[in-house]
Amino acid sequence: MKKKALLYEGKAKALYETSDPSLLWVVYKNQATAGNGAKKEMIAGKGKLNNQITSELFDALKEEGINSHFVKQLSETEQLIQKVDMFKLEVVVRNIAAGSFSKRLGIEKGRVLPFPLVEYYLKEDALDDPIINEDHIKILDLATQEELAEISRQALLINRALTELFASLDIRLVDFKLEFGKTEDETIVLADEISPDTCRLWDANTNDSLDKDIFRNDLGDIIPLYEEILKRLKQR
Ligand code: TMP
Repeated sequence: MKKKALLYEGKAKALYETSDPSLLWVVYKNQATAGNGAKKEMIAGKGKLNNQITSELFDALKEEGINSHFVKQLSETEQLIQKVDMFKLEVVVRNIAAGSFSKRLGIEKGRVLPFPLVEYYLKEDALDDPIINEDHIKILDLATQEELAEISRQALLINRALTELFASLDIRLVDFKLEFGKTEDETIVLADEISPDTCRLWDANTNDSLDKDIFRNDLGDIIPLYEEILKRLKQR
């Protein structure tokens, strides 16, 4: 397999074509951003940690019967993935109040929600990724009702599997963001990444953040936290 032309470069990853048209080559970058790119920094070692953590989590989900676009880890910073047609949606699942949910609705951070909440956001940087509902999704033609039902079903299954996995590592899965895509045969699969950049993870004993909130809120170095997540995942 050979890495070919750059297809797309995002804030945290670059995607390349390969000699196989059905496969893409992902390079995880060290760039960290917050507030839709308002805060931007290079953090040495972040790319390799997120690549390894995402690879571990996609493997763990596969063991639970949940498929993703992940094919294999190629190197410390690279993955081979299936090429999928991405939905222009960010799917957030919340178990505990935090972040924009707490801020928008005035609910104190840390309150355990009575059931997992699934939210949808339009993936559009120019509009700051606004929150949308199922009717917006239908009107904007972002997914059909059946596709959305499948996305939400998978998001909740992923939440159950990851909540259990992290609990076994003494970590509370507060909330996280997922993205989905469609394969050539129209199967809906989990895509993008699952890492401390895209999840809120709190230490079960101290409730300390082990995720990107530390960068977002200028509270210190994220690398030791991401290393701690990877270390615990490797012990599973
Ligand atoms: P929020 O509380 O800021 O809406 O974030 C909810 C979760 O989604 C949190 O775990 C961080 C993740 N997230 C992303 O991965 N990318 C984003 O662009 C945003 C806004 C949130």
